[in-house]
Parts: sequence; structure tokens; C-alpha cells
Amino acid sequence: MKHSLFRICSLPVILLTLATQLMAQETVPPYLDDNQPIETRIEDALSRMTLKEKIALIHAQSKFSTPGCPRLGIPELWLSDGPHGVRMEFVWDDWNHADWTNDSCTAYPALTCLAATFNPKLAFEYGNAIGQEARYRKKDIILGPGVNIYRTPLSGRNFEYMGEDPYLSSQMVVPYIKGMQQNGVAACMKHFALNNQEKNRDRINVEVSDRALFEIYLPAFKAGVQEGGVWAIMGSYNKYHGQYCSHNERLVNQILKKDWGFDGVMLTDWGSAHDTDEAARYGLDLEMGTWTNGLTWGISSAYDNYYLAQPFLKKIESGELPESLLDEKVRRVLRLCFRTNMNRYRPYGCKLTPEHADIARRVAEEGIVLLKNENHFFPIEKGRYQKIAVIGENAVKQLSQGGGSSELKPQREISPLEGMIEKYGREHIVFTLGYASGEPNYSNELPSGLDADSLVQEAVKVAREADVVLFFGGLNKNFQQDCEGDDRRNMDLPFGQNELIEKLIEANPNTGIILISGNAVSMPWISQIDGLMQSWYLGSQAGTATANVISGEVSPSGKLPFSIPVKLEDNSAHYFGEESYPGVNNTQYYKDDILVGYRWYDTKKIKSRFPFGYGLSYTTFQYGKASTDKKSYQPDETVKLSFTLKNSGKRAGAETVQVYMSQKKPSVLRPVKELKAFKKVCLQPGEEQVVEIEVPVASFAFYDEGIADWKLENDKYMLHVASSSRQIHSTATIEVKNK
Ligand code: BGC
Repeated sequence: MKHSLFRICSLPVILLTLATQLMAQETVPPYLDDNQPIETRIEDALSRMTLKEKIALIHAQSKFSTPGCPRLGIPELWLSDGPHGVRMEFVWDDWNHADWTNDSCTAYPALTCLAATFNPKLAFEYGNAIGQEARYRKKDIILGPGVNIYRTPLSGRNFEYMGEDPYLSSQMVVPYIKGMQQNGVAACMKHFALNNQEKNRDRINVEVSDRALFEIYLPAFKAGVQEGGVWAIMGSYNKYHGQYCSHNERLVNQILKKDWGFDGVMLTDWGSAHDTDEAARYGLDLEMGTWTNGLTWGISSAYDNYYLAQPFLKKIESGELPESLLDEKVRRVLRLCFRTNMNRYRPYGCKLTPEHADIARRVAEEGIVLLKNENHFFPIEKGRYQKIAVIGENAVKQLSQGGGSSELKPQREISPLEGMIEKYGREHIVFTLGYASGEPNYSNELPSGLDADSLVQEAVKVAREADVVLFFGGLNKNFQQDCEGDDRRNMDLPFGQNELIEKLIEANPNTGIILISGNAVSMPWISQIDGLMQSWYLGSQAGTATANVISGEVSPSGKLPFSIPVKLEDNSAHYFGEESYPGVNNTQYYKDDILVGYRWYDTKKIKSRFPFGYGLSYTTFQYGKASTDKKSYQPDETVKLSFTLKNSGKRAGAETVQVYMSQKKPSVLRPVKELKAFKKVCLQPGEEQVVEIEVPVASFAFYDEGIADWKLENDKYMLHVASSSRQIHSTATIEVKNK
């Protein structure tokens, strides 16, 4: 009875509901209906927009936002740096911090450190964590990751990139992008392309061979587009073949959009557009950051004067440029909106959670590289020494600040000194500064105001009275150090650190060094010390991670993502003189061509101080003999390489095994070896594992300029199983036969 009554009563209700739904369906335009395919929504939104609304969509309205289309309910897009955390807020129309009290973040280790982990799973967690914090802070696009190749140790922004090897950076960038974008936040890979130095970055014209372009400088971008599915890319400041990269016909229209099928938004670096016609025609979709002169100064609130604003509008109205060029850009921006701020199902995000701190710490711990360890210098187990001297400014400097646009305002940054005190107890640690730099500043060096001689005297006294000395030095984020806008002047440690180190060693031979930097430095004191660690800008958890590694709670497992040369002239970019670096008359020729990093040192038989891929552990590993599943392969097959790896020491530890390829008789010059695969393997003491690594044969190809394509030659190929680019344990030879 109850049931049928319900049925009778519910009929009108059902009808009413249906009618409401039908009406609602009629009133919801397709672009707002998330049951419609994105491409349908894009076309519908586009068809409803006026010319002026379309123009508004493709340039900034403030330093870090675009206006959307309020009439249609298309929200503003909010952008933020990147790439190591979500940057603090800025005022609307200039570069002053807004000084909000709720814009702090977790600072994650710099990308050099992430690369040094050789751990793509961590890269995913890293990207996801920043994506979560970005969502919470209402950001739609994060300006990172950066994947420019480390060509010279002087480049001011190497710390923001992933090292010298295109394969390593490709493997690490893809998961970063995926992790971030699953939050409905676009990653914006930068700086496309050839921004391999900061010196004269706004005008330098790069000339490079196609082979080096495709083999060295573009693979990480390509992987980010095709494997990572990145939604945005930032053009670089420099020129390539005489044309600015942000509207470069070949790079953007041909390679990025046509050949690689990039369907996202190509945006400027802040102020990297220079011409309306070129910007309109050569693939630029969104103009950010300029004032009026193509750079970063000029009149205020000049957004209407941007190249893609009124000047573009006028050219369309006069018929000089077709509206179809504008429509194509608007489509891309709308696509980005549907993927981000118009995706109703994206997660809400969160920030500063314990999980975020945990990820920051794990990346830092896995990234620290142990470079030298003799006479059991490390680990310094608790209780081993009564008095540990911690000397050096980098033990206390807040290194998430400075450096340019990657600066962060961490809620908390645990310094190495705090980490050491926490680990060993205040009574066992004595600290002194030793040297002092000034405050981080974008465009000049501010003096510290401290007397250098007194600092040295005090440091020597402290060193003499301690059982062990740990010197925390390196570079910092000051101008002409690891900082945007210019390069370092030479490879030496700044602020008198080399002299100080000599004095410390003299005062106490039991001295070890922890270098914190994003670049290689010269090491004149190397033979006089037993312990050396390469550490990085480690972010919020710097101190905890550092102390965990120093004390042995965590065994180091980082590997160098770049080679450390003995001297600057050994580096390939510098070897060829000024025409190669930094350029003459605003043009430079990449004369080192494909021989960048270890490819150069190995091929030219130049000994580097520490090779690419190098890093020690507190335990030891034994490599078995490598074998392959077959001897002969077709180009579309994959080599299955296997070997045993044993932890032959007394501690748990992780080893990154690396596979390098050499071709037996190439018809062109090829590097002596190229990284083709790697795997990080964790083993308990005494544990042995069969490690299996797959290497696609197609990856052995080189870029043949004659056919403008990749070419794989029938030949023998050696696969070296190695623990660094210079430590080969076993080699398997295979043959490639294209029937
Ligand atoms: C940098 C970019 C950064 C942008 C916005 C530019 O100076 O080169 O990497 O994303 O500023 O801060």
C-alpha cells in the first residue's frame, strides 16, 4: 500500500525533475557542461567571445595573473613560481613582495638535488606535493620545472635545472609533471630553449647544430610534452638562429607544436616578447610580465600595451593579421582553463602537511652526494666525538631565499646547524661563521659589514679546540652566485673560503667539508681532506636531512647530476673560448656540439675531479656480470639486461646502477658513452638481488643531420653497467640488425 502510494505521489515529482533537467540542459551552454568533450567546450566558448574578450585572454592583467572572461564566467588564471615550491605573493603591478602572512610554503630541495636522487618516484611525489600546495594557494600554473641543460658550471640557474644529461632530466621531469598536473595545476616547463647561461640572457643569440639541439638540448622538453603531457611551456629570453625563442618559428611552430603535437599554452618568460607580428605568427599564446620595452621596466600598468594586447587587436581590426591567429591562441588558453580552473573535479589541495615535510626531507636525504670518504671520516656516529665544530655561513644561511624567481618563503627552514644541534645535542656542537656574504640580492652584492679577518681568526681557534671540524660552505643565492640574471665569474669558492679552508685544515687536520651549491666549484684543498659531501639547496628540511646523513642514520645514495671538472678550462663550453661562452657581440656558437658534460670529458680523455653519476655510500656494492636476453635485436625491440647486485657492507643502502651505451663503429662521431637507463636499488646488508633493466634499442640512434631524423645503424653496441660514468663494472655487447 505504502509502496503504490509512493508511486502515485512520485510520478509528478519525477516529471517535474525531468522537466527541470531538460530546462537546465537547455540553459547550460556546452562550454560549461563537463559532460561535453573539451574540444566541443572550447569551440563553444570561443564562438561566444568578442574580439576584445579574446585579446584579454592572451595577456597578463597583473604580474602573475590573466583576467579570464568574466562575462562568460571563465575565471582568472593565477600563476606562480616555481619550481621548488609555491612562491610568496606579489603586489599587483610590480616586483615587491605583498608581505601577506598566509603565503608561506614548504620549500622543497632545488631541482639539482631532485636530479641527484636518480629516483623518478620521488620526482612524482615532489611534483604532487607542490601541486597540492599550489591548489591550496589558488594557483593554476606553476612556473616549473626547469630542464635547461647544465653546459657550464658558471651558469647562474643550474641549481634550478636537472643536470647535464638529457636522459636523466627526461626521466625526472616526466613524473614531476604528472604528479603536479593530477591536482589540476598546470606545470610550465621552462625555459624553451637553449637558455644555458644567465649572462646576457635577454639578448644572446645561440647558434647550435641540429644534432646537438635534438640530442642534448631538446630531449627533456620533448619527454615533458609527449610522455608527461605538460600543459604549458615558457619561452626563454635568448634568441636561437637570430629570432627570440618565445616567438621562434622553428622552435615553437615547427618543433614544439607541429612535430611534437604540443596542445598546451606557450607563454613568455616575463618580458620575453619583442614583436607583435612574430608573437602572433610564431606560436606565442600568452604574454606575461613585460612592461613596455620587452623587458621588466617601463610605465606601470601597461598591460594594454603588450605586444599581444592593443597592438595585436589593431592589426586584426585593420586586416593586417587574421583573426584565426588569435583564435588558435584562445583555444589553447581555454584548453588550459578546462584542464585547471574550470575543472570542477580537481582536488582542493593542502599545504604544509607533515607529508610535505616528509617528502622534502626524503628528497634531501637521497640527493646528498658523498664524494670522498677516507679513513672512515663519515659517518660521524653519535657519541664518536665530544666536540664537533660547525664552521661556515652556509650552516646558518636561509638558502631558500635569494636566487631570483625561485625564491621561497618557507614556513620553517631548518638550517644545518639546527639539524646538527638536534642530532648531537647542544653541548657537543660549537659554531662560528668563518666567513660572511651579504644579504641575497637580485642585482648586486650587498656587503655583510662583518670583519673577514676576525671571522677567520675565531674560526681557526674554534677548529683547533674541536675533535672534528665540519665546514659548511659553497655558493649561495646572492648575485653572480647561484642566482638568476647573471653567471658566476669563475669556478672558485667565493668569500675567501679556499683560504679559510686551508687554515682550518692546518688548525685541525680532522676537517671535513659539506659544500652547498647548485654548481661545481674548484677544490684546491681536495687532497688534504678525508671527507667531502656535495649538498644542495635543500629547503625546509635541510638541517634534519643533512644531520641524518652525516650521523649515518641514512646512508647517502645521491649521484652527481653533473661532472665536476678540475678546472674551468676543462669544461667543453669554455674550452672553445669566448665565441662558445659567453659569446661575442651577443652571439655564441655551441662549438662543443654534442660533447657536453661527461660526453666531452670521456671522449676527450680529460679527467674530471668527480664524474657524472658518481656518489659513494656508507655500504659497499658488488656487481655481478651483465647478460642480455638475446645477442641480436631489431630496432623496435628492447634489450633485457640483468646482473646481480649485492650489498656487501654492513649497512642498508641504495645504489643507482647506470647503463651507458657505446657504439662500436659509428659512421659519425659519437660520445664514448651515453646514459640510456638507470635504476635505484635498495638493499639490506648482505642482500643480493637480480637487477633487471630494460633498454629500448631505438634509444641507441643518433640524430642524422643529413636526413633530418634519427638514425640507428646496424652495428655492435656495448652496454656498460656502471656505478658512475667512469666506473664500469661489466659490459654486455649486443648487435642491432635491421632486416
Ligand atoms: C624567470 C622565470 C620566472 C619569471 C616569473 C623570470 O625572470 O626567468 O623563470 O618564472 O621571471 O617570475
